[in-house]
Amino acid sequence: MNATAQRSLPLHTDLPTSAEQAELHPGKQRAHVRFINLGKVYQGQQGPVPALQGIDLDIQRGEVFGIIGRSGAGKSSLIRTINRLEQPSSGRVLIDQVDIGEFNEDHLVALRRRIGMIFQHFNLMSAKTVWQNVELPLKVAGVPKAQRQRKVAELLELVGLEGKHKAYPAQLSGGQKQRVGIARALVHDPAILLCDEATSALDPETTQSILGLLREINQRLGLTIILITHEMAVIREICDRVVVLEKGQIVEQGPVWQVFGNPQHEVSKTLLAPLQHALPEDLQARLQAQPPHPHASVVLDLQFTGNEGNEPDLSALFSAFGGRVSLLHGGVERIQGRALGHLLLAISHSPLSLEELLKRARKQAQHAEVLGYVG
Ligand SMILES: Nc1ncnc2c1ncn2[C@@H]1O[C@H](COP(=O)(O)OP(=O)(O)OP(=O)(O)O)[C@@H](O)[C@H]1O
Ligand SMILES: [Mg+2]
Repeated sequence: MNATAQRSLPLHTDLPTSAEQAELHPGKQRAHVRFINLGKVYQGQQGPVPALQGIDLDIQRGEVFGIIGRSGAGKSSLIRTINRLEQPSSGRVLIDQVDIGEFNEDHLVALRRRIGMIFQHFNLMSAKTVWQNVELPLKVAGVPKAQRQRKVAELLELVGLEGKHKAYPAQLSGGQKQRVGIARALVHDPAILLCDEATSALDPETTQSILGLLREINQRLGLTIILITHEMAVIREICDRVVVLEKGQIVEQGPVWQVFGNPQHEVSKTLLAPLQHALPEDLQARLQAQPPHPHASVVLDLQFTGNEGNEPDLSALFSAFGGRVSLLHGGVERIQGRALGHLLLAISHSPLSLEELLKRARKQAQHAEVLGYVG
């Protein structure tokens, strides 16, 4: 399947183009999705519930963009303003520089066809087969039968469900159900795919296969993918950039390697803590604030945030410290081609003062601190 052939399906109404609207930000790079000072307030039973506030954010064409944050931070509210499932209370959402706030009902129907969406619980119709589930939105859009058949077959092949046309959702695994959801989301050749916790109901292996499929769709079809997840490993695996929301506001954003390697905000640090090589409990229990004897080891925590793009140089580290150096815990992982490392070292019999050790450590690593001593 190729992207150009895919984009030929008719829409009932064409969207207004950016030429038809005033150029809103001529000087800036053309974002695929742009939020300008976006706000959302729900009318709850106990009064207004602020969900989003002052969101300014650009998402570029063809990127895989992650949104993370604690429960209730506003992630779903934000993503749902992109296809106007949520109406913003203030501010604007531009898609291809077109302000979707001005769309009439016909424009909205066309917009929603250009934006696919997949969900945690798949939202499949249980009384319809795999084939019928994928075909339904094409039928609703009035696409002729021959064209529908070609499209459904093509998409079921893309998502690896060729043998399952006649199966009903109840006869499928979670991963297969999500593959149907993905095929259905792609029927109108969307330019954007929104994923709200799309892998959260899946086991780790199935998650990997769905992420592989999303990556393939991103690369083969050039789709912009915007995904919400509470699984940080998913972001690490496929996202290019990530934004962290807290209480409806952006608290941090950047390339994944940067935010994951050196999170700045407390919320980001908390969310990412499970991925860090934190001190294991048994070591924590052995740590002492003061050296218990003159030859006790000092425990250094070194972090390599990938800024230099280099792996930690162990021989340089060891020769810089002198004495005996043992690796207590840690490791290196690669995100977007950069090495992010976290090493906990125990150093003893070094001729150097603590200040000198730290000074040398900071020449090697982006972050270094003394955690304490072990006997
Ligand atoms: N329809 C609604 N009416 C009233 N309040 C709402 C409504 N939808 C969401 N909210 C509130 O808006 C805030 C943001 O909700 P949202 O669903 O966007 O959060 P989220 O980050 O997606 O959370 P989760 O990770 O739990 O899915 C929450 O305080 C929520 O209670
Ligand atoms: Mg949500």
